[in-house]
Amino acid sequence: MPCLFIVEGGLIGIEWRIKEGMPVETRNWVQSDFRPKARQTMTIAMKIKREVYLDYSASTPVDPRVIDAMMPYFSEVYGNSTSSHSQGRRGENAIEAARARVSQILNCQPSEVVFTSCGSESDNLAIRGAAWLASQQGRRARLITSPVEHSAVSNTVQQLGDLMDAEPVVVPVDRHGLIQADRFADACRRGAALASVIYANNEVGSVNDLAELAAIAREHGVLFHTDAVQAGGQLTLNVEQLGVDMLSLSAHKFYGPKGVGVLYIKDGIELPSVVTGGGHEGGRRAGTHNTAFIVGMAKALELAYSESEERLSHFRNRRDQLIDGLTSRVSGAQLTGHPVERLPSHASLVLPGIDANALLMHLDLNGIAASSGSACKTGNPEPSDVLLALGYSPDEARCGLRLSVGVQTTEADINYALDVLVDAVGKLRSLKREFAS
Ligand SMILES: Cc1ncc(COP(=O)(O)O)c(C=O)c1O
Repeated sequence: MPCLFIVEGGLIGIEWRIKEGMPVETRNWVQSDFRPKARQTMTIAMKIKREVYLDYSASTPVDPRVIDAMMPYFSEVYGNSTSSHSQGRRGENAIEAARARVSQILNCQPSEVVFTSCGSESDNLAIRGAAWLASQQGRRARLITSPVEHSAVSNTVQQLGDLMDAEPVVVPVDRHGLIQADRFADACRRGAALASVIYANNEVGSVNDLAELAAIAREHGVLFHTDAVQAGGQLTLNVEQLGVDMLSLSAHKFYGPKGVGVLYIKDGIELPSVVTGGGHEGGRRAGTHNTAFIVGMAKALELAYSESEERLSHFRNRRDQLIDGLTSRVSGAQLTGHPVERLPSHASLVLPGIDANALLMHLDLNGIAASSGSACKTGNPEPSDVLLALGYSPDEARCGLRLSVGVQTTEADINYALDVLVDAVGKLRSLKREFAS
């Protein structure tokens, strides 16, 4: 009979049924209705053979060169960048140098770079700012998005709908998760305060043709924002080529620190500030600058693009090793997202008949860090909204796996991960058959 364990030791919060040493089904522990009278508690002494991190889309380690660049700004140059004394001015100089470096990679003016605390904040500033601008001008804010946006975009749009009667317009995506240009044009034709379209999808890795979409928005006078958080460090961020009005980035996706981001805002776009207070960032985002993190982000971005040829070819090799290995060794495994127009570091698949959370548990017990979708979704037993929007059935949408590689990923890491995955899928499937019979 299957048992229910509440497992301690780093995995508290998730229950799973274990049969023959394998997790076969999982459930979130946060459910308020679940109060077992008797529980067995087990601490798993994890004896991990190898640690393989395959969740670089969730976050990356900070590059040691980035840490070196940041170090002086914790305790040597610590003045507030708005102070007029020389300590403050040293901080300000570092921030302005960082702004200039970021602007070179974005091919924009330094004045168009706004430093924020994260990608979510950048998305919020763009969307809320555009919605408030429309309402200041006496218009109802129509906000065009897709069904595969990160929650930093979709929840913001939804809240603006609830709180200020903004009108969300969701343009469908195709089987690969790419926004359909003709449907997007139809939505823009009716006018909108903003269109916000994800550049590279966090869950299935597909890359939208932003230049085409931005041109459509421009033709209809619609402001165009892109959440480029996953694209940062891997795809071009040349805003002139892309034709975007606003673009969000987050440093922790390209080997920079967590807790710092960028919002590019094209000169001439005057949005009401969402974070009010002092006049930082040209009055567009109040708050004392996090000098060390801003310096680190600029360094990380610079390294990502100066080393991009080598990095991206490494990512593609490891990613393709994963995809080829899984599609050839796991029956029914299907790549999700676009087969070609996808992030170099990103492999995502559905593995039919597998509860993604049970599989993730098994991987974790074997030292492999992976995800079933975006970081924010991990541990959620519901089918993935993104996979549903792509046309997968609810059962298939519970079987999504995201594996993302990075600069440290080796061929041997992937071989190990493939062996563990193939073994786990086989065992989970046979246990499922046994339960069904
Ligand atoms: C596409 C996308 N947008 C926004 C975010 C949020 O970024 P941050 O974690 O910096 O708030 C993420 C994070 O995973 C993301 O993948």
